[in-house]
Amino acid sequence: MATPSPITLVGATGLTGSFTLKSILSSSHPSNLTILTRRSLPFQTPSPGNPQTKLTTRLYENLFQAPKDGQKISESNGVYISCLGTTRADAGGTANQEKLDLDLNRDLAKKAREDGADTMILVSSGGASHTSRFFYMRIKGQLEEDVKAMGFNRVIILRPGALIGHRADGRKGQWFMNSLFTPLKTLGISFNSATYGEDVGACIAELVANPPEEKLLTISDDKIVEYANKFRKSNPNSSSSS
Ligand SMILES: NC(=O)c1ccc[n+]([C@@H]2O[C@H](COP(=O)([O-])OP(=O)(O)OC[C@H]3O[C@@H](n4cnc5c(N)ncnc54)[C@H](OP(=O)(O)O)[C@@H]3O)[C@@H](O)[C@H]2O)c1
Repeated sequence: MATPSPITLVGATGLTGSFTLKSILSSSHPSNLTILTRRSLPFQTPSPGNPQTKLTTRLYENLFQAPKDGQKISESNGVYISCLGTTRADAGGTANQEKLDLDLNRDLAKKAREDGADTMILVSSGGASHTSRFFYMRIKGQLEEDVKAMGFNRVIILRPGALIGHRADGRKGQWFMNSLFTPLKTLGISFNSATYGEDVGACIAELVANPPEEKLLTISDDKIVEYANKFRKSNPNSSSSS
């Protein structure tokens, strides 16, 4: 019997995070999954794809307390996954967006590493660069640089372009992304700059079950889909295939 992988996930209520959670839970690979969240899951979780798989939800009134409240963020040799992020509009300005997207993400990852996490999987963004003159790309790129310097044994960075798919909160602007990119994707027209949240989730579950050899792996849209399809092939009953 395989030993369940200790996994911590932040951002589980969002688009990519919810698909990551569903894919990991329904994977045949056993996991001991803990989510750190400010609210209960707004959806039903799928049945575990492995009888050893367990889900623990840790609710925080304020997630900014999580790196400093003395509780462990990760188990030793665990996998720490971040799908955490916000928008300028939701955060109420770029300063607050930076506090969450960069500062909180960095503090949580640092604490996870101190607690013994072995692997970090980060949902970043296409175009991320710490030298970019664009604010969003710059903070995403800076987070990538910070995470790479933390001493994880393996760092996996996903750089999706525009994310499409159903969001529980029906975020403003999402209809535009969906109506622009989804028909092209459905017709099989390859669009390197748009990725389904579902593919991001399945890709992450695949990388958890079968960690890559690379110590640093950075992947964008086509490669994300490739890993996602690999996951679906070996987990035909997963929630990602329904
Ligand atoms: N949207 C795009 O087109 C796009 C493209 C490329 C990359 N990205 C990046 O990819 C990552 C994942 O994106 P996504 O679209 O899956 O994100 P999302 O749907 O907006 O989900 C964000 C997650 O972060 C949590 N969060 C936000 N603000 C919080 C706060 N103040 N305290 C605690 N939790 C908070 C949300 O919790 P609640 O549910 O409680 O709000 C949710 O779980 C993000 O870093 C994003 O910047 C996005």
